[in-house]
Amino acid sequence: MAAPGVYADMQAQRACWHPVAYSGEVGDAPAQAELLGESLVLWRGPGGEPRAMSDLCVHRGTALSLGRVSGDEIVCPYHGWRYAADGRCVAIPQLEDPARVPAKARVAAFKIQERYGLLWVALREPRWPLPEVPELRDDSWAVVSAGPYRWQSDAARQVENFTDFGHFPWVHPGLLGDPARPVVPRHEVRTEGHVLRYSIVRPEAPNTDDFPVFGNEQATPPERRSRYELHLPYTIVLRLDWGGQRGMVYLFAAQPVAANRCAGYVVIGRNYNFGQPDQVIREFENTIFGQDQVIVESQRPDRVPFDLAAELHLKFDTVAVAYRKAMRALGLAADLSGA
Ligand code: FES
Ligand SMILES: [Fe+2]
Repeated sequence: MAAPGVYADMQAQRACWHPVAYSGEVGDAPAQAELLGESLVLWRGPGGEPRAMSDLCVHRGTALSLGRVSGDEIVCPYHGWRYAADGRCVAIPQLEDPARVPAKARVAAFKIQERYGLLWVALREPRWPLPEVPELRDDSWAVVSAGPYRWQSDAARQVENFTDFGHFPWVHPGLLGDPARPVVPRHEVRTEGHVLRYSIVRPEAPNTDDFPVFGNEQATPPERRSRYELHLPYTIVLRLDWGGQRGMVYLFAAQPVAANRCAGYVVIGRNYNFGQPDQVIREFENTIFGQDQVIVESQRPDRVPFDLAAELHLKFDTVAVAYRKAMRALGLAADLSGA
């Protein structure tokens, strides 16, 4: 029996796309990943096609991710059984006729796609497509990725932190917020199916000499316009501008590794500052996510309680309230304590 309360429903999340790795993390050799408490092996077919299967050989439970890829098959490291991309075992070398494979010899294979430099997996037929972010596929934008940021919290805590305006001056003073201006500007959330939309105009700290990553020019005080799309359960598209031509787009997606562990992927596009080394943005994100990690890992419970009575929400917590309502309404969070 689970702890009482309304929390993210791991079963329901199987029918959603989640990031499991950066594209570059899966090359010629198989790689291991964990999604919703399930161990996966990720590998590539002969043309580089991504594959995702259960990381558990049906023979003796060995991790297939320790094996190797041969053509369009993955070979178990223990006794050499070979599996095709659909999870069927196609050869058992110990048999006189290795092709006489029993029908039960198969492992689960999952839907996988590669987009925005990430590998995305759905463990069941996904309910919604990935968000469209044309900027990240546009050659006139520069794209850099940061993370993954592996935290001891559920993915919903990481997502809520990304959407939380009230903490900027306190946790990121001088980088994302100004302690002299702690009031959160008004904003309203529109919920359309599984997407929450909202935008905010707020003062920000000027670019620091350490991290000159933003596109604000000399406006004083600089104002940042942020337009958010939160695609339930754990993907955010954030577009920033400063009233001019300069634009930045953030794709943030949290991987629900297990009930109380997550990994955050950040893909950032910009149409200015092309000469800036990627490392400047990466170090900025490492700093911000590092400041957030200490706070979020201290939160109890270590999962977002989706019952609105469970924490104290004020007016400026509009996004958290809308997120909690929508997650429940769509069956992505539920009280499973009696289940
Ligand atoms: S455990 Fe995989 S082939 Fe025996
Ligand atoms: Fe933060």
